[in-house]
Amino acid sequence: VEAGQRETVEVLWSAVMAPKASDVEGAIREVAGRRRIAVISDANVMPLYGAPFAKRFGVSEDDCFTIAAGESSKTRGEWSRITDAMLARGFGRDSLVVAIGGGVVGDLGGFVAATYMRGVPVIQVPTTLLAMIDASIGGKTGVDTPAGKNLVGAFHEPLLVLADLRALKTLPPAEFRAGLAEAVKHALITSKTELDWLLTNAAALAALDLPTLRDLVRRHVEIKLKVVFEDEREAGVRKTLNFGHTIGHAVEAMSNYSMLHGECVAIGMVVEARIAAAMKLAPATLVDRVQAAVETFGLPSRIPGQMAPGDILAATRSDKKSRGGQVEYALLADIGRVANAQAGYGTSVPDSVAIEALKASR
Ligand SMILES: NC(=O)c1ccc[n+]([C@@H]2O[C@H](COP(=O)([O-])OP(=O)(O)OC[C@H]3O[C@@H](n4cnc5c(N)ncnc54)[C@H](O)[C@@H]3O)[C@@H](O)[C@H]2O)c1
Ligand SMILES: [Zn+2]
Repeated sequence: VEAGQRETVEVLWSAVMAPKASDVEGAIREVAGRRRIAVISDANVMPLYGAPFAKRFGVSEDDCFTIAAGESSKTRGEWSRITDAMLARGFGRDSLVVAIGGGVVGDLGGFVAATYMRGVPVIQVPTTLLAMIDASIGGKTGVDTPAGKNLVGAFHEPLLVLADLRALKTLPPAEFRAGLAEAVKHALITSKTELDWLLTNAAALAALDLPTLRDLVRRHVEIKLKVVFEDEREAGVRKTLNFGHTIGHAVEAMSNYSMLHGECVAIGMVVEARIAAAMKLAPATLVDRVQAAVETFGLPSRIPGQMAPGDILAATRSDKKSRGGQVEYALLADIGRVANAQAGYGTSVPDSVAIEALKASR
């Protein structure tokens, strides 16, 4: 989050605020005004980026709130702990939350902001690829509960999203690849052009070449923003973002969250391509193309052998996106096209088809 760096991509999308993208520090100061800043980050990211940010903006250490790294911190418990600490520290309605980290910090920090004194503004500073191109865009915030992931939350648009690509250099490679899975998903639901761009730039991306990363983040923030702006409350086109996620979430749950979300989405996209081909919604060649795309980025394309297809199918039914028990998939009709646009992009899949596709993907 240093000012004036060429490598810094700024995504400024507040309707009111549109500072010059070349001056990041100025943009933050303009948005922050005289607000009192609370920095929220996790134990990995706070020392790397949170503390330097706090120092730069004169935020005291006691106004920096650190959670343990990982999904297990995205809880109401941590939400209470942070909001209580903010209350104890005398944060008022003039607070500004700056959430610096991956999607966990963004979701939790955003939810703190959405609820603190009925809502204070938030600046999202995503430091994982997944958070840069996905989680920080769209205004969804929230926490997990014992009943499932993301079940309590709120829509809360950030004032500003700042992504410093250099942060990706310290990200564990597996986390980077997991973020690329969402990029593959974006490309597959958008166009052949986007898919070709990704595949052509695979080597440069793997090498963390900054100009290529900048293009990646720009393109994919735009893809997500376009979908989200078209559909603020998930009535229709936002569902296309769910491609690969019905099976993906089920695999993730079956792994007891030991597999990364992006890895599970990669597998989910291949299985769902197989489902679409089997239902004759998509050409048979789609399966190979999706699989090749996933494998180009070193992502898994097969279901771990120990997971039984029947169990995965059962797990899809507890996904919150099911409607009255009916699971709706976002299936590809082809690259760049999601099936059943007229029906809100949802397709129900016969159990037998899902089971066959799962079996073929082991
Ligand atoms: N709000 C949304 O629309 C949305 C969309 C997609 C995903 N999500 C949520 O995002 C979460 C996953 O986010 P994630 O994949 O970023 O995981 P994460 O936040 O757990 O980060 C992954 C790991 O990388 C570490 N890390 C982050 N940035 C780093 C950096 N620059 N250098 C070194 N280490 C770094 C973190 O400490 C963590 O250990 C899930 O909870 C998911 O539900 C939300
Ligand atoms: Zn996802």
